Amino acid sequence: MGAGRTASDVDEHTPVLAAEALAGLALEAGGYYVDATFGRGGHSALILQALGREGRLLAIDRDPQAIAAGERRFADEVRLALVHASFADLRTLVPEHAEHRACRGVLFDLGVSSPQLDDPHRGFSFRGDGPLDMRMDPTHGEPVSAWLARASVDEIRQVIASFGEERFARRVAQAIVARRRERPLASTAELATLVAGAVRTREPGKHPATRTFQALRMFINDELGQLERGLRGALEALAPGGRLVVITFHSLEDRLVKRFMQRESQVDPALRKLPVLPPRARPRLALVGRKTRPGEAELARNPRARSALLRVAERLP
Ligand SMILES: C[S@@+](CC[C@H](N)C(=O)[O-])C[C@H]1O[C@@H](n2cnc3c(N)ncnc32)[C@H](O)[C@@H]1O
Repeated sequence: MGAGRTASDVDEHTPVLAAEALAGLALEAGGYYVDATFGRGGHSALILQALGREGRLLAIDRDPQAIAAGERRFADEVRLALVHASFADLRTLVPEHAEHRACRGVLFDLGVSSPQLDDPHRGFSFRGDGPLDMRMDPTHGEPVSAWLARASVDEIRQVIASFGEERFARRVAQAIVARRRERPLASTAELATLVAGAVRTREPGKHPATRTFQALRMFINDELGQLERGLRGALEALAPGGRLVVITFHSLEDRLVKRFMQRESQVDPALRKLPVLPPRARPRLALVGRKTRPGEAELARNPRARSALLRVAERLP
């Protein structure tokens, strides 16, 4: 815990682009909505405020701690279903909780929450020291330390280069493999120091291990694979006129979202020349507005919003 922080600070997350996300969802008081990334419920609380008695919200998170915190915060909220699951399974989760309602909107607010980043025991942060874990869902898969203990130099290099866009990926990978010959690499502080020694240049305002930590986190949680499945599931689950709102924090994530929305908002190129378009060739999404970034006021209040980017699309009949 950093200077001046209290336990309750660590359990809070300031919702990013909140007004813009709510406007993007075009909330109807009696509608059924999905918060695919509950976190600490910042966006969910605002959605519930805008919904009437008949409205319903399904909120999902793959982190059991997020769900436990949500159950405490929203213990009396009968309009909310809080589920420990991955948004990769939206295709089945949304109808399961629909109670015969049509889904009017799905919100994704990607990346990690402040409590995940700030709790050294989760192993996401190079500030502070903790076990080298980095799983959003510690009940599945393996900690990143287990993968780093067996992956080849080339596999580690490739992950750090592609997800972290780290120029010194090979040097970092070599340093990791050299160190593990002496002893297993088990702590975040150990990895951060090792990376700082391998990365030659210093980017202003950025810890030298930022790119490596981000890359390993994206890899061990299969964040891009999950996102691809989540977007496809949301598209299947949304009713015509329903809104898809996505907030990203990384250029690779945003590229995936942008391409998905573009592809689904065009006629299938392979079938474009047919005299009569079959239904499956028609666009399934319409883009709504332009991409949005946080304004100066939000950035001054919440520096963690700095790389956020929001895109909105509407499900077509
Ligand atoms: C940026 S936080 C969301 C914060 C939230 N909007 C709020 O205002 O409190 C992202 C959350 O998404 C969750 N998450 C990431 N990938 C997920 C996935 N594939 N399925 C479900 N939840 C996921 C993380 O565990 C984290 O709690």
